[in-house]
Amino acid sequence: MKKIESFSEYQSEYQKSIENPELFWEEKANTFNWVSKWNKVLNWEFQSPKVEWFVGGKLNITENCLDRHLKSKSNKIAIIWEPNNPKDEIIKITYKELHQKVSTFSNVLKSHGVRKGDRICLYMPMVPELAIATLACARIGAVHSVVFAGFSAKALAERINDAECNVLLTSDGQYRGKKQLCLKNIADEALLSCDSIKSCIVLKRTGEKISMRLDRDFWWHEEIQKVNSFCPVEVMDSEDPLFILYTSGSTGKPKGVQHHCGGYMVYAEYSFRNVFQYEENDIYWCTADIGWITGHSYIVYGPLLAGATTIMFEGVPTYPNAGRFWDICDKHQVNIFYTAPTAIRALQAYGTEILKPYSLGSLKTLGSVGEPINEEAWQWYFKNIGKEKCAIVDTWWQTETGGILISPLSHITKTKPTYATLPLPGIQPCIVDADGCEIIGNDVQGNLCIKFPWPSMIRTIYRDHQRCKDVYFSTYKGKYFTGDGCRRDTDGLYRITGRVDDVINVSGHRIGTAEVENGINEHHLVIESAVVGFTHPIKGQGIYAYIILEKNSISEDLLIKEILETVNIEIGPIAKPDKIQFVSGLPKTRSGKIMRRILRKIADGNFSDLGDTSTLLDPTVVNSIIYNIK
Ligand code: PRX
Repeated sequence: MKKIESFSEYQSEYQKSIENPELFWEEKANTFNWVSKWNKVLNWEFQSPKVEWFVGGKLNITENCLDRHLKSKSNKIAIIWEPNNPKDEIIKITYKELHQKVSTFSNVLKSHGVRKGDRICLYMPMVPELAIATLACARIGAVHSVVFAGFSAKALAERINDAECNVLLTSDGQYRGKKQLCLKNIADEALLSCDSIKSCIVLKRTGEKISMRLDRDFWWHEEIQKVNSFCPVEVMDSEDPLFILYTSGSTGKPKGVQHHCGGYMVYAEYSFRNVFQYEENDIYWCTADIGWITGHSYIVYGPLLAGATTIMFEGVPTYPNAGRFWDICDKHQVNIFYTAPTAIRALQAYGTEILKPYSLGSLKTLGSVGEPINEEAWQWYFKNIGKEKCAIVDTWWQTETGGILISPLSHITKTKPTYATLPLPGIQPCIVDADGCEIIGNDVQGNLCIKFPWPSMIRTIYRDHQRCKDVYFSTYKGKYFTGDGCRRDTDGLYRITGRVDDVINVSGHRIGTAEVENGINEHHLVIESAVVGFTHPIKGQGIYAYIILEKNSISEDLLIKEILETVNIEIGPIAKPDKIQFVSGLPKTRSGKIMRRILRKIADGNFSDLGDTSTLLDPTVVNSIIYNIK
């Protein structure tokens, strides 16, 4: 696939993509291997909603990630794996080896009865086998559901049960910096309530002692010995599901966002090449975890579709010290580096002295993703990591969008700190007001919607299409609603200002306030809770919980500890509140709705401008909350 080379080419490509989207995307799709071509490029309506790309086309995404490259790139490195401990061995896997390993594991899955359409859950550390198994699912048409290995047993079980997975892939343990965590124990606990799982295949990573259930659990290294490495691809329809990935919403349980084969493939490669301006032989490193969408699209699929070398990192940015990221950049001569603002802010706090041993001379492009990047972090990244010569690409997108929608193209689009700048070709953003009317012109602010389909957009929420319609397509008729607020400046550049719904973005991780409240409410002494986000210097947003308790004689410190542990058990450490305040009442309207707007302001220490409180059932609770802040 050819990439855009200049800003004028971007402008003309954008124009083409708007005037004739079908012709535009057909040209891009033609660069892939299809078993048979589509008979129609696009079917769509945003009411049901129904979106189909490359209708009737047949393909397999792994043929395009692997087999397609064997002629010209079989000995090129596909994956460089950097272990948690820098003293351990680095693993490099060529395209040929990756093809073999994926095919072998595909046969393992088949030998466990996995068929096209079955759902497979992956709960694994950042090791090459995670990428291999993800691709193996895709190769045989099984739908992968990767669950981030920081989630608790309960959260894992909820996701396995929702997707009715029949195989779980996990490991004995995982290393994260100085910590070692026994994943198999967590998996065992989850499986107590998951009847659909017939086989659990366990990778040996830490070598710790675990229990194996004879009729259900199998060792990875033994299973791959039992099969051969020849596995033809399963022919998939362009609109067959490729994967499910759970994400948090503003209400209820996590949603299984579903992406389909053809459109996702085309957009993953297109966006990867253009945003990062990938050139043959560039070394590319995205620091995300494959448990999130960034890892799916920009560690595994995008780079491998482009035939790139992609780095997978097992560890954390501060182990063995806060220079680890930069050490890896120098060691592997990384050209394109993609991380989250939280990591940048956390490393910024260590000062610039720590950067001295590193050259960082190989870097050309620096990416940012997952949350708004503040001006200070942007400038620090630009100056100290990019040495003022790298382009910063602030990429805005979501689990539901499958790929980057608004972003500069590296060294092509003029950047502006804190701005995601311009939509990629094919993307038609619009800003709407509270009544759903599109706000035309520049220097405006409102809610961000997309008014035309793009190939990698969400198709449905697994087993709950109505929810897909309600959440994304009902707020503003005929438009996809992102849940984000947005500003368009006088030059027409976009800046994403953050969520406008009850979702908090903690360190780039999306957490629903309702989910955290449900977790807190599991504690036997909690009567009611309300959770909001507050501005946090490193995490972007922190979690603030207001909690009403039953009468008790337990100390506050102990209660806080117990409640944090409850949330840890229900969801996982990422959802633990940063601040807990016990209150006697919550600000509610006469119809019983909690006025979160007020709670958000209090959490941010903004007491003077609480807006209209006259509609509250009992306005005195507000003063009582402020008075009792510790
Ligand atoms: O609020 C936006 C924020 O992250 C949300 C999507 O989260 P998730 O589905 O977990 O995907 C994260 C990785 C793509 C968005 O609704 N977000 C993501 N990127 C940016 C951002 N906010 C501001 N600027 C960004 N570049």
